[in-house]
Amino acid sequence: MRSIASADFSIGLRWKTPSHWTSIALSDFNSFLIDHAACERKASATGMHFVVQYPDRPELTEPMIQLAREELAHFHQVSRLLLKRGLRFDRDERNDYINALLKNLRTDRDGRFLDRLLIFGIVEARGHERFSMIAEAIDDSELKSFYSHLSEAEERHHQIYMDLACTFFDPNVVRHRLNEFEIEEARIIQELPFRAAVH
Ligand SMILES: [Fe+2]
Ligand SMILES: [Fe+2]
Repeated sequence: MRSIASADFSIGLRWKTPSHWTSIALSDFNSFLIDHAACERKASATGMHFVVQYPDRPELTEPMIQLAREELAHFHQVSRLLLKRGLRFDRDERNDYINALLKNLRTDRDGRFLDRLLIFGIVEARGHERFSMIAEAIDDSELKSFYSHLSEAEERHHQIYMDLACTFFDPNVVRHRLNEFEIEEARIIQELPFRAAVH
């Protein structure tokens, strides 16, 4: 089994979310939390998806189970916040942001594998950016520290995806494809209307 490579790629979001987004997210924080819960649950499912889809790539088993567990813990924490506020989970909505990104997946097995690692890595980077914006703007001190903790975790998750990409693929190949996805992600997210949701 090869060892996990350490990718030297920093978070490369090509478009910075304007602070106006934060005001919209905080203006209906209950809706934001309901969407946030769904994002954490899906992030956990994504980690487990990698584990079951790629049993021939055992290097990812440990980090992806670890990631899935952490995302599940985030989901658990957000679900407690929902219950405390008398809110309920929504039925799962389509996530236009993720769906638009996934439209770019290549169809060959290796290409698809790399694309999935990079797309979900960028999604983590965007989560890191937006949770840190919430942490900065929110008044409640408990929520401030919760979102700042989450933001750090999402930064780490971004790195896990990048390290895995460089474990299985040549770093130059990774860099080239990552560059394409960074540009594409910036285009997609700019076109989405701001709402009280993570994306
Ligand atoms: Fe998370
Ligand atoms: Fe994450």
